[in-house]
Amino acid sequence: MRILVLHGPNLNLLGKREPEIYGHQTLADIDGSLRVDAVRLGVEVDSFQSNHEGELIDRIQAAMGQASGILINPGGFTHTSVALRDALVATRLPIVEVHLSNVYARESFRQHSYVSPIALGVISGLGAVGYRFGLEALVARLRPESA
Ligand code: DQA
Repeated sequence: MRILVLHGPNLNLLGKREPEIYGHQTLADIDGSLRVDAVRLGVEVDSFQSNHEGELIDRIQAAMGQASGILINPGGFTHTSVALRDALVATRLPIVEVHLSNVYARESFRQHSYVSPIALGVISGLGAVGYRFGLEALVARLRPESA
């Protein structure tokens, strides 16, 4: 089982970017922890970050027939991108949306997500560990007998 992990714009700056909001872990730390979690869960993870909407969409389209589910932190595109949402829907794959920060406790423009209505679930505000919970939730959904 292969899970595509997608990180949207500015998440390459994790560790340096507003650490009081996004924490001190770098993206490499998060992807490294996910690889450890994946071994424990017996799945493969394929992580990709881009600052470019089209590159994220290309990667989502390429997951069709290749991945079993998508774990995504769409970053700022969460609140703006119909195209990203359309691509996620087109895959017909289960999607889990993750945010490091609690978007509901922040500016009002962060409280609307184009992705949440088409996601299996949303994890927001738990920091880096939210990615682990998201991966576990996807695997549990895809392998209900082991949940
Ligand atoms: C974020 C929240 C978004 O509102 C923001 O634009 C990000 C990061 C988060 O992980 O908390 O880039 O997705």
